[in-house]
Amino acid sequence: TRLTALAGEIRRVDRVVAFTGAGVSTASGIPDFRGESGLWKRYEPQQFHIRAFERDPESFWETMVGVYEEAFGVDPEPNPAHEALAEMERAGILEGVVTQNADQLHQKAGTENVIELHGNLREAVCQSCNQREPLSESINRARERDLPPRCRDCDGVLKPDGVLFGEQLPEYALYRAHALAEKADVFLATGSSLRVEPAANLPKTAADRGATLAIVNLDPTPVDVNADYTFRADVTEVLPRLADELTE
Ligand code: OAD
Ligand code: ZN
Repeated sequence: TRLTALAGEIRRVDRVVAFTGAGVSTASGIPDFRGESGLWKRYEPQQFHIRAFERDPESFWETMVGVYEEAFGVDPEPNPAHEALAEMERAGILEGVVTQNADQLHQKAGTENVIELHGNLREAVCQSCNQREPLSESINRARERDLPPRCRDCDGVLKPDGVLFGEQLPEYALYRAHALAEKADVFLATGSSLRVEPAANLPKTAADRGATLAIVNLDPTPVDVNADYTFRADVTEVLPRLADELTE
C-alpha cells in the first residue's frame, strides 16, 4: 500500500519532520478553524486579529471566553495521532513536531521537540509590562465580566499568549522550523488546511529542498499538487498505522 511505501522511505532516511495543524486535535474535542465544524463557521476570523484586540479588548475577551470553553472546557487529552508522533520520536524516527496548535497536546503526549509556531494558550501576557499569569485565571475573571482582565501589577490589559492574525510569529520558533524543513528528508504535513502563511509555506519549502512530502488531511489542500503522498484520511487512523509499521 501507499502507507507501506511511505514507511519504507522513512526507514531509509535520517531526517523526518512532522508538521501539524488543528486537525490533529479535533479528535481531542478541540474544534479546528476551516474543517466541517470549524470555528470560522461560527466566528469571524477578523475577531482574532491583533487590531480587533487593540480596538476593543472587552469584546475580544468576551469572544475568547466562549472559544476557550468550547476548546478547553473539558480538559483535552492527547489522541492517537499525538501519541503516534510521540512514539515515532521516542523510537528515534522523528526529529520533531512543528505545530500551529496552541493546545500543548503534543507535549502532553510526550513529544520532546515541539516547535510552537503560533505560541500557546497556557498564559496571558500584560501588554504594558509583560507580566504573565495562567490563561485560565484571566478567563475566569473575564467570565465574571471583569473585562478586559488586567495585569495584577500594573493594570495593563492582558492578551492571551497565542499568536493572533496580524502578529509576528515567534522568531526563534520560525527559525527552528525553517531549519528542520530545509534539512528534512521526509516531511509529514498533517491535519492542516495549509492556508495560513508563513507556517503553510513550510511543506513547500521542504519539498523544494528535495524532501519527500506526505500530506494527511481530510480536506484537500493547495499544497497537494506538491506532495508525493496524499492521504485524504483521518490522522488518528493514518498516523498510528504508520507508527506501527515503523516500530514493529
Ligand atoms: P484549519 O482548520 O485551517 O485546517 C484543519 C484541517 O484539518 C482541515 O482541512 C480539516 O479537514 C482537517 N481535519 C480535521 N480533523 C481531521 C482529522 N481527524 N484527520 C485529518 N484531518 C482533519 O487549521 P490549521 O491549518 O491548523 O492561526 O489552521 C492554521 C491556522 O489558522 C491556525 O493555527 C490558526 C488559524 O487562524 C492562528 O490562530 C494564528
Ligand atoms: Zn503589567
